[in-house]
Order: sequence, then structure tokens, then C-alpha cells
Amino acid sequence: MQKTDYLVIGSGIAGLTFALKMAQHFPKRKVTIVTKGDREESNTKYAQGGIAVVLDKQKDSFERHVEDTLVAGDGLCDTKVVEMVVKKAPGLFCELMGWGARFDADESGELNLGKEGGHSTKRVAHFKDSTGYEIERALLAYCSDLKNIELLPEHFAVDLITEHHFSEQRKGPKTNFSCYGAYVLEQGSGSIFPIVASYTIMAAGGIGQVYGHTTNPIIATGDGVAMAYRAGARIQDMEFVQFHPTALYGDERSPAFLISEAVRGFGAYLVDDRGHRFMPKYDARAELAPRDIVSRSIDFELKRTGKKCVYLDCRHLDAQEFVTHFPNIHQKCLSLGIDISKDFIPVVPAAHYLCGGIVVDMKGRTTLNNLFACGECARTGLHGANRLASNSLLEALVYADQIFSHLSTTRSSESRSKKNDIPLWDDQGMVISKENVLLSYGLEQLQGIMQNYVGIVRNNRRLKKAKQHLELIHRDVEELYQQTKLNTALCELRNMVGVAHLIIEQSLGRKTNKGGFYNADNKQD
Ligand code: FAD
Ligand code: SIN
Repeated sequence: MQKTDYLVIGSGIAGLTFALKMAQHFPKRKVTIVTKGDREESNTKYAQGGIAVVLDKQKDSFERHVEDTLVAGDGLCDTKVVEMVVKKAPGLFCELMGWGARFDADESGELNLGKEGGHSTKRVAHFKDSTGYEIERALLAYCSDLKNIELLPEHFAVDLITEHHFSEQRKGPKTNFSCYGAYVLEQGSGSIFPIVASYTIMAAGGIGQVYGHTTNPIIATGDGVAMAYRAGARIQDMEFVQFHPTALYGDERSPAFLISEAVRGFGAYLVDDRGHRFMPKYDARAELAPRDIVSRSIDFELKRTGKKCVYLDCRHLDAQEFVTHFPNIHQKCLSLGIDISKDFIPVVPAAHYLCGGIVVDMKGRTTLNNLFACGECARTGLHGANRLASNSLLEALVYADQIFSHLSTTRSSESRSKKNDIPLWDDQGMVISKENVLLSYGLEQLQGIMQNYVGIVRNNRRLKKAKQHLELIHRDVEELYQQTKLNTALCELRNMVGVAHLIIEQSLGRKTNKGGFYNADNKQD
């Protein structure tokens, strides 16, 4: 058993930002970060476009950023949250630069701001097309200088410790539960031990892998949402899965390589195989409409034409400037024989971002005592039915700071985590599974169901079929979970089944189409 003041689950922008601030301001308090891959593996590392922030008060304003966020969210954003996030953005962005994260600027030091879908002006600060990689690098470097942060890579959080785990309370009423840390699998040795914490911060990121065809790396299996759900926390808005319109088509590798929305902000057109622009017929904002509209329009075009992909046309753009701004995208295209100055880039939509998740208030508090959540796994109310491009890194920064501010002034209560009665993980009698095929086949089936039945355009028949199929996978996985020693693949599959269940149930429950959610059987309001 280990003890710590703050247990942070996840080492992306959300987890690292909280850890860094807490450890820096309170050198006597211990912060433990567990992360299941290597230190840097995260959705954060792959972020391309940048961070939305009002920096140029002549050409932009808080009111405009708020308005753009509300329009993209299609009426379901929490306006108070949006205003708070937008207003805090410039200060926290400067703090991030102070920690060493670099952003593109001209010779005079003026930041070079980009434009993306749904933004009424240029307000996206970026570092070429590898903003997330740069942020992750800077945060990890800063954290490694702080002696009171312990970062444990290859440590998988299996379950949150709550009253569920104390035998005397197992049968009692399941209300007013608290979180006392997490059971953690040391992936090298296979042993599971409790990390007991006064406060636990869930920052475990997204769910893209539930769909298989996704821009998200393999760590994005929805563990945070699934753990919080099992522990009894409130989960909301899971039907709002955002599909990015332009993942590269034709490169079979997973995850799908993203062609940043900033490329359309830079002037690229979406065209069919004959070079005709089709977005203007769907929306007056054309290629720069919010993402849900562009993805749905592409989906419609693909179904109408029977083609496998659409294309980005960059031939009219300044090729030299393109290479300077998007060196990685340019390189990736070249590696596939695509010369952006002459050829179209083939693209299709792919699962990209979860707008819903673990419900938190403006202090980042979940509905479980002592459990906080920030970043992609949290449902703050900022995104509503569809996230505005580049508002995610921003949301993670702001909510990590909200939790930090709240906990800086909260005295640690005399909680159960101070006592020594947290039960150890019991896997006596469990056998080591030799049937990995059960896991790989289960995963393949799950991803097939989500891709085919719970995609961009849904209907009740497909959703109900998905529910039935998922139930069978659920039974197989639970059987394995009850009988075998845990490993990462089993835990991830179990979590993905939980997340898929939430997406399907909450999709069936939503009777009006909003933002990124479209059920063909619902009336469009
Ligand atoms: P992550 O960065 O995903 O970090 C989650 C962490 O939790 C990881 O370290 C993971 O290993 C760990 N973890 C997960 N489960 C467990 C477990 N069970 N035990 C232990 N550790 C666990 N947003 C923008 O605002 N602008 C952009 O330009 C942008 N571009 C993007 C491009 C791509 C290709 C992708 C995939 C996303 C992009 N996004 C962008 C979205 C944004 O990157 C993410 O929403 C954001 O980085 C999430 O940060 P996070 O800290 O919440 O999660
Ligand atoms: C992109 O660069 O297109 C991704 C931006 C985002 O997800 O906000």
C-alpha cells in the first residue's frame, strides 16, 4: 500500500497541470501520478491545431469567443462555465508559456494565431502542427524538477477505492460515497496494490478506441469514465461523441493520422473526387462550419456517392507557407506519395473527442466526495452538444487550475484515507488466462458494433441491435474478469464495454438532435 496527498490518474495536459501547480505551491504535499503507458503517451501529445484563447483584443473579444463556443455547442453549453473558461484563458495560457511551452510567433514576438472551424476570427495559438507534443514536453520537463511529484509510468488504475470495498458498507445504502484513492496494477509485475489518497484527480482522457477508427492513440480506452461510473459518479452527455471530419484515408495504421482543422482554416477546400467543393451547399460557413456539421455533411456525401473518402484540396495555397505551418502533415503526406501542391489529400471522419463524461461542478468536483475530474474525461458544461475546435486543451488547463485553487484552500479532512483499513486487492484463486483471443476478438466485435451502429448518424433500430450485441460481449468479459488475474487488455476491454453501454443508453435516451448527436428517427428541432 502507498499513501499520498493527491493521486492523479493520467499524465496528459490535465493531470500534469494540476500536479505541477499543487507540487510547486505546496512543496510539503506529495503528488503521485499514475499513468498506464510511458510518461508522455496521451491524447495531448497528438494535438495539432492549438489552444483557443483571446489574445488580440483589437480583433477579438471574450464575447466573441463565448458566442462561438455557444453556437458550436448548439444550445447545450452552460453559459456560466463558458464565460469563466474564456476569461481565464489568457492568464493560464501565459502561465503555460512561463513553464516553457513554445508557440509560433513572428519576428516581433507577436503570436501567430490560426483559425479553425466555428471560430469567427483567428484565435488559435499553436506550435506548428505539433502543439500538443510541445505542451507535453514542457509540462513533463517542469514536473520532473519538482521533488514532491512521483510519476509512475506503466501503472494502470483499475478501480477507485470507495465504500464499495469495505465489507461492512457493501450492503448499506450507496449514498454519499467517497473516494480514497485507487487500486493500481503495476503492469511489469502484474501486482495490484492500493494507492491511498486524501484526494483523487481523474485525468484519464478520452474514449476514441471504443470506435477503433479514431484519431486517438491506444491509451484512449475510456478508463476514467468507466471507473467513475462503477464507483457511482454521475456520467452525462455520452451521446455527444465528436467525429473529426478529416482523418487521413488510405493509411491503414491505427490511430488514424489527423489532418488538422487548421489546414481548412489556412484555406484548404473539401472536394469530391472530381474536385467539386460540396460544403457550401450544406452550410454558409462552408469548410469552416463547426465540426459536427462538416462531419455529417461528409458522411452524407459518402453515402450518396458510394465513395470511400472525400478530399482536401490545398493546391491553391502557398506551398512554402504550408510546409512551415504544417511540417508533420506535409511529411506524412509525402511518405504516402501525396504532394499537397499537386494532389488531393484523401480524408474521412474519425472518432475524435468525448464531449460528455464525468459530471463536475465549476470547482472540478464530481458527485463522489474527494474525487475530482478534469480534461477530456470530465463533463464540465463547456462543450454542450459539440466542442468548438481547440477548446479542449484550454478546458483542461482551466479545470486543473480550478481544482488546484479549490484544494489549496481546503484542509484535508480526517478522512478514512488516514486510517490503515483499506482492504488489499484480493485475487486469490484467480488463474492466468491463456485465452488472449477472447480479448482480441471481443475488442474487434465491440469496435465493429460502435463503428457500424453507433456512428455519426444513428437510428433506433441500430442502437437497439448494438445494445443486444454489447450485452453478449459484456457477459464474456465479466466471466473473464471474475475468473482470471487482471491484465491491462482485460481491464481496458471491460472499461470500453462500460463506455459503449453509456454511449448507447444515453443515445437511446436523447429524443432531439443536437450538435454532434444525430438520430435519424428523431425530429430535428
Ligand atoms: P490525455 O492527454 O489523453 O491524457 C490521459 C492520460 O491518462 C494519459 O497519460 C493516459 O495514459 C492516462 N490513463 C488513461 N487511463 C489510465 C488508467 N487506467 N490508468 C493510468 N493512466 C491512465 N484539442 C485541442 O484543444 N486542440 C487541438 O489542437 C487538438 N488536437 C487534437 C489532435 C488529436 C490527434 C487528438 C487525438 C486530440 C486533439 N485534441 C485537441 C484533443 C485534446 O488533445 C485532448 O482532449 C486533451 O489533450 C485531453 O487531455 P487530457 O489530459 O484530459 O487527456
Ligand atoms: C485539429 O487540429 O484539427 C484538432 C483540433 C481539436 O481537436 O480541437
